[in-house]
Amino acid sequence: MNYVLGIDLGTSGVKCLLISEEGNILGSASKSYKPDFGQNGYVEQDPSVWWENTKAAIKDIIARYPDARGKVMALSCSGQMHSSVFLDKDGNVIRKAILWNDTRTTSQTKEIYEMAGGLESVLGMVYNKALEGFTLPKILWLRENEPLNFKKVSKVIMPKDYINYMLTGNIKTEVSDAAGTLLFDVKNSRWSSEMLEKMSLNKDILPEVLQSTDVVGLVSDDISDELGLAKDAKVIAGGADNSCAAVGNGVISKGQAVLSVGTSGTAIGYLDGINGKVTGDVHLFNYSMPDSLYAMGCMLCAGEALNWLKRTFFADNSFDELNALADASPAGSDGIIFLPYLFGERCPYSDANARGVFFGISGGTEKGDMIRAVMEGVAFGLKDLFTLVTDFVDVNEVYITGGGAKSKVWGQIIADVVNRELKVLNIEEGPSFGAALIALVGAGMCPDFETAKGKSVKVIKTIKPGENVLKYDSIHKLYKELYTANKEAFKKLQEI
Ligand code: XUL
Repeated sequence: MNYVLGIDLGTSGVKCLLISEEGNILGSASKSYKPDFGQNGYVEQDPSVWWENTKAAIKDIIARYPDARGKVMALSCSGQMHSSVFLDKDGNVIRKAILWNDTRTTSQTKEIYEMAGGLESVLGMVYNKALEGFTLPKILWLRENEPLNFKKVSKVIMPKDYINYMLTGNIKTEVSDAAGTLLFDVKNSRWSSEMLEKMSLNKDILPEVLQSTDVVGLVSDDISDELGLAKDAKVIAGGADNSCAAVGNGVISKGQAVLSVGTSGTAIGYLDGINGKVTGDVHLFNYSMPDSLYAMGCMLCAGEALNWLKRTFFADNSFDELNALADASPAGSDGIIFLPYLFGERCPYSDANARGVFFGISGGTEKGDMIRAVMEGVAFGLKDLFTLVTDFVDVNEVYITGGGAKSKVWGQIIADVVNRELKVLNIEEGPSFGAALIALVGAGMCPDFETAKGKSVKVIKTIKPGENVLKYDSIHKLYKELYTANKEAFKKLQEI
């Protein structure tokens, strides 16, 4: 029996999943780490932290499954998107990587519009709006604020590309991460010479772009020995975490979409081309399946809102107890509406000033109402994301993963709010599983994604919209009005 590894290189940890060539999950090993949070929205990470922890996770999983030693024929990484790794001409890291959730680059996003000639022009070249989190604003920040470091830059790559480079010695990226740089012509799947020119950047700083399923190179002998991989194991290019997660959650053809409640929340729909009107409201990125794309709405705080509530007010309760309390509260949380903008918001509003709100508290409000309101608020946010996706592409099959799939009460709330039948899959390892499928297909161990999905992904439950659909529809309208009514107040609050 041969094996592959799917590695999810995240912001707070790395997870390494071992699957057999038949698509069966054997187990996983994880390592945690923390990003470095600084002043003024700075969030950075030393790429050596990713590499050391990735090696440790691979060694752990091979030690736990000795059968796989020397028989891991391919591996592939899913990585946090947009975070920039700056390499010098000798391939050394110049400074810590600036991460996707770093918000230092507000002025650079404005400059991008000025240099590019406005929103329409940016959308025409790269199909996405200039957002703080994307890679280009970070490159411009470096040029303006650390000119000596900028002078040394030979290549800019993303986190999972760095792991691929350490494994093979080859510096490359692939379409799904290239798409998040704001320097990629998403429609034509190539670097945008026009955007590079407008930004006065040299094309040489960008690496060759592969498909997610292409081979970056072979693992060097020393590293294969150290980690216990097969000699000449193939490193498959892999993809952006959201792209890999969607693959891992079974989104492989037209009409399919997935809603995910992780730390952040996303709605992702499969695209076979850019046919709708490009407004920048929904992200349009290249997908990990050849010749495909996806439309994505991303909210910055979803599952983390419930984590925050539990950590802050219910530290002694289990999640099961929180679910039971929420279940006992009526739909509408007895008049409470929660806005989940704890970290500002990205979609549907790009607003760094927005903050969380509990609206409608009365003398009769109980704990369960507050918990249910948080679940409902996140569900309203997901509905906004899903609407962005369905405004762009027709969707007829919706999967759900993460917190909303695990909690019965939350899953039902989401189905009612979004008013769609939601399918729960047997797979909980979205990004690492997607990366493993990409490794299987990329290494030629499985002919295509349909076969890979057929072997391993099954629907275990379907959640149907119930009696609260109409009630939630009215509350959602008020939820949207609350943001609009508070937009200026959020700004003033930050100024004060
Ligand atoms: C997507 C995004 C995040 C990161 C998290 O645009 O910024 O989802 O990929 O790792």
